[in-house]
Parts: sequence; C-alpha cells; structure tokens
Amino acid sequence: MDSIIVKGGNRLTGEIPVAGAKNTCLKLMCAALLTDEPLTLTNVPLLSDVATLALLLESLGCEIARLQGGRAVVLNAADIVDQKAHYDIVRKLRASFNVLGPLVGRCGEAVVSLPGGCAIGARKVDLHLAALEEMGATISLSDGYVHASAPNGLRGTEIEFPTVSVGATENAMCAATLAKGTTVLRNAAREPDTKALADCLTGMGARISGAGTSTITIDGVERLHGTTHRVIPDRIELGTYMIATGVAGGEVELIDGRRELVGALSDAMERAGIEISETEKGLKVRRDGGRILPVDVRTEPFPGFPTDLQAQMMALMCIADGTSMLEETIFENRFMHAPELIRMGANIDVHGGQAKVTGVERLKGAPVMATDLRASVSLILAGLAAEGETVVSRVYHLDRGYEHVEDKLGSLGATIERVSAT
Ligand code: EPZ
Repeated sequence: MDSIIVKGGNRLTGEIPVAGAKNTCLKLMCAALLTDEPLTLTNVPLLSDVATLALLLESLGCEIARLQGGRAVVLNAADIVDQKAHYDIVRKLRASFNVLGPLVGRCGEAVVSLPGGCAIGARKVDLHLAALEEMGATISLSDGYVHASAPNGLRGTEIEFPTVSVGATENAMCAATLAKGTTVLRNAAREPDTKALADCLTGMGARISGAGTSTITIDGVERLHGTTHRVIPDRIELGTYMIATGVAGGEVELIDGRRELVGALSDAMERAGIEISETEKGLKVRRDGGRILPVDVRTEPFPGFPTDLQAQMMALMCIADGTSMLEETIFENRFMHAPELIRMGANIDVHGGQAKVTGVERLKGAPVMATDLRASVSLILAGLAAEGETVVSRVYHLDRGYEHVEDKLGSLGATIERVSAT
C-alpha cells in the first residue's frame, strides 16, 4: 500500500490545472445507459473511481473506448446484456447505485446491489427507491439486492424529497427522461454536478427545465440519442488546492477554476484573510505571512459550504489564530480526520456533529492514517504546514478522487513524494 510523505514549511507558487469533476463524470457515465447511441465524454479525470465504474458498465454490456490517454471516453450501450449490478463493484463505489434509474428507465427492469454503509455514514438509499416507486416501479429487496421493475415503463409524477439528496435527485432525473408524461422533482439537489447531468441529458434529447434550482421538471421523451459532453471542473479538487494555498501560504492560480463553483468556500477563505481573485484563466489564491483568522463553517447542500471540503477546512483552521466551530450536517460520521490531526498537534474537540478547533501556531509532522477520500487529503494539507515529516498511509482512498496529488503539489513547490510499500 502506498504512502505519501510531506515535509512541511514550503510556500506554494505557480499554476495547476483543475481536473474534470469526479462526481459529475460518474453520473454522466451512468447516463450512457439511457441510449443505444454513443455518449462521448471529454475532460474525464484519471481516477480509480472512473475505472471502477467503467468495469461495472462493461459488465452490463456497455462498450467503452478510451481516447486521449483516458481524457475522453466513448460509452456505447447499444446492447444492454445484463441488468444486474453486482455487490463486488457497488460496495467499492456507491455512485454505481446510479445505474438504477437509467436501467429501469430504459429497460423497465434492474437488479442493483444495496451499497451498504460506508466510513462517513449510513448513506441510505430510501429516497432513490421511493422516487422510483412513485414513478410506478415495483421495488423489492432480497439477498442484499434491490429489484426494480416497471415492465410497462415509468410514468411522470410529482416527487417531493424530504431531504436534499444529490444521488436520489440524479437517479430520479435520469429515470424520468424516458417516463411517460411529466415528472416534477421538488426539494431537488442544486449541486453543479446535478445541473451538469441535466445539461448532458438535454444534449441527448431530454426535456428538462429548472436544473440548478430546487424544482426540476422533466417531460419524458420516447428515446434519447448520443452526444458529446465536456465534464465541468471539479469544484472539490479546486477547493482543496485553494485551501492548500491557504494552509501553506503563497500564490497559486487554478486554471479552469470558477468562483461560482466554490462560492461558499471563497467567502469563508476571504473571512480567514486569504485573497481570492478571478483571472482570465481561472482563480488565484494568495496568502502572505501572518496567521489565518478563525472562521465558523456549517456544511449544507449547495450553494452552502460543501461537506466534501469540511476536512480540508478543518486542516486550515488548525493553524488559525483563535477558535472556530465546524458543524457537519450532511453525514453523521465525517470527523474521522480529527483524531489524526490531533496526532499532529492540533487542538480539536468533537461533540456529535460539531468540532471546536483552537488554532495552534505550528503543527508537527507525524505518521497518520487516511480513512476516506477527503480525510486523506486534509492530512496532506496539514502536512504542508507542519514542522518535519508527515507520513500519510492508506492513500488508496486518495487515488479515488485526486489525480496525482503529489505531482500537482510538487509542481507548486511542496516537498512531497509517494512511496510504495514493498
Ligand atoms: C454525493 O453523495 C457525493 N457523491 C458525495 O461525495 C457528497 O459528499 C454528497 O453527494 C453530498 O454533497 C457522489 O456524487 C458520487 P446525498 P450522495 O444523497 O449522493 C442522506 C466524495 O467525497 N440520504 O446527497 O450519496 C445521506 O445519508 C463523496 O466525493 C438518505 O437519507 O449524497 C446523507 O446524510 C462522498 N437517503 C444526505 O442524505 C437517501 O436515499 C445527503 O446524501 C439518500 C441520501
């Protein structure tokens, strides 16, 4: 298992590109199942999650051609040969559950493994299933699998989600594109990923309005066709490198970065005393010497502060001049980075969904362990500001969502390397 070693103390300077968005790309790949014509995606990130989902889609009969070294993929689901998504892949990647809506929408039938819990929380799928049931699917559960069936097709209806769910909104939206009549999704997710999925589906011939707001209306069509779609920049990768610059100090331009993707983070970083400016090529982040100011943050669905940047923000607050409160409202167990940060000298008190972080002047390098994707990267960020060496083990989590993190940070001046255990 690989580890990443960071020696802290270097400022970051230069520019790096922001990759295509993982969570958008995964849902766009699932949407390829909705048509028998090829869907071409460009600006695809080179990540293990993308490779895992590709394996699942191939097992269903989708042919996948990789172009430009994997930066573009052509997905051709002309013949769906199997409608069963097996546990051995779904358990590795929860986003695989998003083949459910497209499969039921197009084939009238799907058998998809329940994903099970994961490190950051229970992550139920009841909202996905309730939405499909409201559209006329019969749902049953057996042997750990969801069996969904709508032999005469789904029908449009009004669905009000009791809580905002990105995945359930996206599953329902995909299914509704081929349903009979009009579906209205209320309290829908407003995440840029969901809007990007709607844009791609529209390019495939779907009739969708209101994506990006909390009410999405989908008029079902007979069939969808192929298209070419560019994956939007990854707002979480963007935000991670913005925070990295705040932690280490320096000046970094993030090519393709856009403020509207990271509005809540930009506001919080500015309150912490970090400069953010829009440039022709993207977003520039700058921090001169001096301590960071403490900022309170509460995670919320978009456009609120994203849960996927909470761990990284905690790393920043660990070196603030004062006390900040971080509140996690999306997932029930997303502070696993806190004990590891404490091993590096951070002063953090976790009570339920709240973490009180009292900044220290300097963190100290230590061996630490990654527990999930965003927690892993927060430890690397903390290592950038720590005295001495930080060794982050179990970095396979990191490779699910960050392309060559050591190369990107290394190119900005960080002392960082990956070592493979023999
Ligand atoms: C997506 O997960 C992202 N994953 C997550 O990114 C992200 O943290 C999350 O949205 C929130 O922004 C992908 O897009 C692949 P939800 P998702 O359904 O769709 C509860 C990362 O690090 N809920 O919006 O699974 C759920 O338990 C990952 O890249 C139900 O109760 O999240 C959670 O508390 C991690 N029942 C809340 O809703 C349901 O049926 C929001 O979850 C569905 C969700």
